[in-house]
Amino acid sequence: MKILFVCLGNICRSPTAQGVMQKKLADSGVDWVEVDSAGTGTYHVGSPPDPRSQKTALEHGYDLAGMHARQVSTADFYNFDYMFALDLNNLKDLKAIRPSDATAKLTLALGYSRIGDEVPDPYYGTEEDFKTVLSICEILCDDIIAALIAP
Ligand code: 4NP
Repeated sequence: MKILFVCLGNICRSPTAQGVMQKKLADSGVDWVEVDSAGTGTYHVGSPPDPRSQKTALEHGYDLAGMHARQVSTADFYNFDYMFALDLNNLKDLKAIRPSDATAKLTLALGYSRIGDEVPDPYYGTEEDFKTVLSICEILCDDIIAALIAP
């Protein structure tokens, strides 16, 4: 199974979701799920995750080192089984570019979760907002694992 988390910049929310999911899967011994992330925008292509996201992740035991932002591509709509949009704008932007014969299931990430519907954009926010993103991603990944990977 291949899953892709998508936000706007691919430097805050989706790399956090990717790092959290990869660690949770590794800790559970699941080796048949591939996880990646991408952004709908181009502003930060090639950049590592935002230092605030890296710091928050590290403080909670997740390492985002080695990731670099990329823009979502047409191929992603065929290469992945699931494309998880982190907010409603991301979902709208993905729907606008989704090929009509796309095979990936495109959905709001939090559609699988017991909490809320959007992972709020922390980019212009505070340290606390980055902690909130991390906490939401932890619950989100637990719920995706429970729903799709280890029911
Ligand atoms: P992300 O956060 O979508 O969670 O990676 C953002 C990163 C950059 C910008 C907005 C959101 N930006 O406007 O540059």
